[in-house]
Amino acid sequence: MSPTRTAIVTGAARGIGATTARRLASDGYAVAVVDLDEAASEAVAATIRDAGGSAIGVGIDVGDAEQVAAGVARVADELGAPVVLVNNAGIIRDNLLFKMTEDDWDAVMTVHLRGAFLMTKACQAHMTETKFGRIVNLSSSSAQGNRGQANYSAAKAGLQGFTKTLAIELGRFGVTANAVAPGFIQTDMTAATAERIGVSFEDFIEHSAKQIPVGRVGQPEDIAATISFLCSEEAGFVSGQVIYVAGGPLD
Ligand SMILES: NC(=O)c1ccc[n+]([C@@H]2O[C@H](COP(=O)([O-])OP(=O)(O)OC[C@H]3O[C@@H](n4cnc5c(N)ncnc54)[C@H](O)[C@@H]3O)[C@@H](O)[C@H]2O)c1
Repeated sequence: MSPTRTAIVTGAARGIGATTARRLASDGYAVAVVDLDEAASEAVAATIRDAGGSAIGVGIDVGDAEQVAAGVARVADELGAPVVLVNNAGIIRDNLLFKMTEDDWDAVMTVHLRGAFLMTKACQAHMTETKFGRIVNLSSSSAQGNRGQANYSAAKAGLQGFTKTLAIELGRFGVTANAVAPGFIQTDMTAATAERIGVSFEDFIEHSAKQIPVGRVGQPEDIAATISFLCSEEAGFVSGQVIYVAGGPLD
């Protein structure tokens, strides 16, 4: 792989994004660690540099078109044309439909759908020019429907349609697009869910693991490994797929 290939991972200050940024750096990419808070992004980038990799931290609200344009231009300038994009930034605003506010709905749509749209639009110009690109969007097992997540499940199902359309439009330029749909992954996001429903995170994990065929919850590394494969040169014939990484079958 060319040592100059640049990857952007959004929502990478912690959780799945941070682990994916570290994994792609160890795969040989120069990595832009993107998150809302530039200092938190830079802290993750520093750990990558300390481990011998190349990375910068960039503060971008992925829902803000101006910040996306300026941030992606900065990445291209400082690290090189971004040809790998992992749209991982995400939030939850869970509530039963009758209690869900318009703000809960709009906030989730803005980060997941508008964010992925803006980031992909900004990066595809570099990918099509380079005649190589890898786009990975974070969907979720919740795309199949989940109580209390009308907004989130709609957004994560929407990302699957977005992914398939990108695959159709961009394939001729050497660009693939795939979605990874995690099940239960142990991060701050699932810790927040445990808190909302009023159980300890340990009990939540133990209970969830019993429902999962492989008998454990997922770790960020499980997702990072799948993303690493989808971003690799050898995954060039895999496009428009939704890969559930959930410790058991989902489709
Ligand atoms: N944890 C799970 O079980 C799970 C399951 C399925 C899907 N996912 C998806 O995987 C992705 C990562 O999840 P996680 O568990 O690591 O979450 P997390 O909450 O630990 O991390 C999400 C990151 O996204 C950032 N972010 C939020 N809004 C942003 C914005 N507007 N611009 C830039 N960054 C923003 C946050 O600051 C945070 O650092 C999300 O898209 C999530 O929906 C997670």
